[in-house]
Amino acid sequence: MAALKGSVLRPFAVLLFVCQIEAQAEDLYAYGEYLSGECLTCHRLDESAGQIPAIFGWPEDKFVEILAMYKHGARENAAMRNVAASLGDEEMAALARYFASQTPKESAQ
Ligand code: HEC
Repeated sequence: MAALKGSVLRPFAVLLFVCQIEAQAEDLYAYGEYLSGECLTCHRLDESAGQIPAIFGWPEDKFVEILAMYKHGARENAAMRNVAASLGDEEMAALARYFASQTPKESAQ
């Protein structure tokens, strides 16, 4: 009986586990989207922001690495150093997740 119970419930346990992982992934994305408001005042989704580089569709690890370079002074840009100084690891990971999944829009309007 115990074995039967285990085999009946196992798929539900697996499903619950998968749902939890997906919820966490969505949380990270949602947090990144929330944090991106600040970034989007300079970095635009339509790539029409002139001097400011587009930051979409990058691999997440590369994105985090670059933010860390600004944070720790390996890259010198004053605006980005200021921005990155206030970001912790979780913020950087969330921003990387969000921006990695964005594609630039064709044009402004
Ligand atoms: C005040 C304007 C401003 C804001 C706000 C801003 N950035 Fe930037 N960002 C810049 C500029 C200017 C550069 C180019 C700096 C350089 O030449 O190193 C840059 C560069 C970057 C780069 C490197 C791009 C490349 O091609 O090397 C990344 C990644 C980046 N920003 C991410 C972000 C994120 C994430 C945020 C929000 C948390 C943000 N930025 C907010 C102005 C801004």
